[in-house]
Amino acid sequence: MATQAPHAVVTGLQWGDEGKGKIVDWLTESYDLVVRYNGGANAGHSVVIGDRRYALHLVPCGILRPGVLNLVANGVVLDPEQILREIAELEAGGLPVGERLKISDRAHLVLPYHKRADGLMEAAVAALAGEASQVGTTGRGIGPCYADKAQRTTAVRVADLYQPEALRRQLAHIAGVKNATLGALAGLSGQTFEPIDPAALHATLLSIGEQLRPYVADTAAIIRDAMAEGRRVLFEGGNGSLLDVDHGTYPYVTSSSTTALGIHAGAGVPAARLGRVVGIVKAYTTRVGAGPCPTEQVNAIGEHLRERGHEYGTTTGRPRRCGWLDLVALRHSAQLSGATELSIMLLDVLAGLETLQICTAYRLDGRLLDGFPASAAELERVEPVYETVPGFAEEVTAVRAYDQLPAAARAYVERIEALAGVRVSMVSVGPERSQTLVR
Ligand code: IMP
Repeated sequence: MATQAPHAVVTGLQWGDEGKGKIVDWLTESYDLVVRYNGGANAGHSVVIGDRRYALHLVPCGILRPGVLNLVANGVVLDPEQILREIAELEAGGLPVGERLKISDRAHLVLPYHKRADGLMEAAVAALAGEASQVGTTGRGIGPCYADKAQRTTAVRVADLYQPEALRRQLAHIAGVKNATLGALAGLSGQTFEPIDPAALHATLLSIGEQLRPYVADTAAIIRDAMAEGRRVLFEGGNGSLLDVDHGTYPYVTSSSTTALGIHAGAGVPAARLGRVVGIVKAYTTRVGAGPCPTEQVNAIGEHLRERGHEYGTTTGRPRRCGWLDLVALRHSAQLSGATELSIMLLDVLAGLETLQICTAYRLDGRLLDGFPASAAELERVEPVYETVPGFAEEVTAVRAYDQLPAAARAYVERIEALAGVRVSMVSVGPERSQTLVR
């Protein structure tokens, strides 16, 4: 049975912020390693343990469980200052990191000019074509860093920090290229770019290299060895499936492979090694930034969801766009990752709504569509077809067993299961570990 497979994936099936962190935290009791394989500090997990809330961006959530080894694999773009800050905060909170964190020597570094480039590109696009053309990024330098990874000659990887002479030569041409291109980019929105001083950056990077040294390793080899020894590995996806660079709502996506498909390249793990794929789904839809969101509710329903769900970004604090659950999008992402089970999050947020709507199909120009459109322009124009089901008035945050949920809440969960064609194994009714109902 899928749930007994030794290695697992936790992946968000919407536009991010589904509550993956809570489920990773919940599952890590049964796993020995937790691996991040994509994205960077654009992702943000909030995990509540007792009266303390931890906001993690790069360090995997497994760090909150003693005895779990946490890996930041090669597919992640690593902001070294951010991860050093997170390590310091965890240790200040009484959670020793030490030997429990390893960072891939092949991960690419997000440097200050990547974050600057992120903002300058958004500003240039707005100046040339209007704000509607922006992606609405988190400003964490993710796109520019992955662009350098694909460009190759302008990238810096973790391993480069330990080759001081080669790094000096590398930074000389990187500074030359960036100063020219980012200077010109800045000019498009009437801004200026403070040129990179390659000697100063070299000194900073050598110092960062020393601080990171205890954590740096060949993470693919660690995973391989752990699997060979029979240890159980959990892969934690950053960002949601609909933000996937290949399969999401392009171009309104992030720059990495966010689905379970990203694990193979992003962590160096053969496809055949994965068995259990837990798809994380909010009981409704949220999206941050620009791009199509067919079931968005710009009305009292959207307000209800935002206020009761505290739908404001962990990374940027931006209010999230909120709407009804979209089963067309969900089926698309569940199939991509091969979800073997679903975990439905934030069911409690729906309490008090008289009826609930589930989008079961898209209509465009009077005809029903097959599948999920490739074109964002087309997706902007689709009309959701809704199925209406009864809501539930009762608060459910105190419920501790699935069978104790109001009948309408259970019917909603079971309708999602039927429409998605994937078993719902867990339902969450609040941020605490105890508010997880296993079916
Ligand atoms: P970037 O990843 O910063 O380049 O942002 C690209 C798009 O992905 C924007 O619409 C962001 O709002 C969105 N995004 C990136 N990471 C997350 C996340 O963890 N949660 C929600 N949206 C995200």
